Amino acid sequence: MNSATLLESSEAVLAQSEVLSRAPLADVLRWASDTFGDRAAIGTSFQGAGLVMIHHAVQAGLRLPVFTLDTGLLFPETLELSSRLERFFGCRIESVHPELSLDEQARDFGAGLWNTRPDTCCLLRKVEPLKRRLNSLSVWITGVRQEQSESRSGAGILERYLFDPIAERYILKLNPMAAWTRDAVWEYIHEHNIPYNPLHDKGYRSIGCGPCTRPSGDGGDERAGRWTGFEKTECGIHTFLPAAS
Ligand code: ADX
Ligand code: SF4
Repeated sequence: MNSATLLESSEAVLAQSEVLSRAPLADVLRWASDTFGDRAAIGTSFQGAGLVMIHHAVQAGLRLPVFTLDTGLLFPETLELSSRLERFFGCRIESVHPELSLDEQARDFGAGLWNTRPDTCCLLRKVEPLKRRLNSLSVWITGVRQEQSESRSGAGILERYLFDPIAERYILKLNPMAAWTRDAVWEYIHEHNIPYNPLHDKGYRSIGCGPCTRPSGDGGDERAGRWTGFEKTECGIHTFLPAAS
């Protein structure tokens, strides 16, 4: 099935999902790379699932671009890991930055926006920068897993979203890790000696920005520890796109 058909048709996406859900991870990534070239890219926050995908892509000789949203508020450990991974995988990891520096954000929206209006902070520092990067993509490859939380339990391997309602442009989201368990991800990482965020060994299960991430210990919701004290469980990058009918 060609790229245009997939972007235009939900039925085509459904049929392709069936095929991909039975394929090994390397084949799923190869399909994305062969079909979409550099209009398919892996977005990663360097948590387990992203590392497994990058490792498979590199082993398979695929040249899928890799990007990360650097909010300017990531842990030093996360930034250090990014450089280590570039060396380990021998690939470039593109940092995508918000338009406003932290000083400019404080000037325009007040200091510590993550404490007062975290949704606005996530919009400025994650969602808007992601939208700009997605503008040049047809396929956004993510490490979303069904097991991560209640709201992600329905994540499919290939999904179609309306990216630009005015231009009627669609985008595909590929979640090759959708059915992987946390245990399988970590088993793979240890087996292949892939560098990982040292904060995972200090009780952090899900790692995002410094001000909004707490250690959450073992058990329970994998994403507990994110935005503690707020009725917030998603930063918005996985909820802002309307699903295509
Ligand atoms: S988040 O919504 O809370 O930030 P989570 O940390 O569970 O998401 O990660 C799920 C997937 O979202 C990741 O595998 C990755 O594909 C994407 N993602 C999350 N944070 C980033 C980021 N900072 N840069 C790029 N992609 C990200
Ligand atoms: Fe801001 Fe926190 Fe969202 Fe990071 S996770 S962009 S610090 S509100």
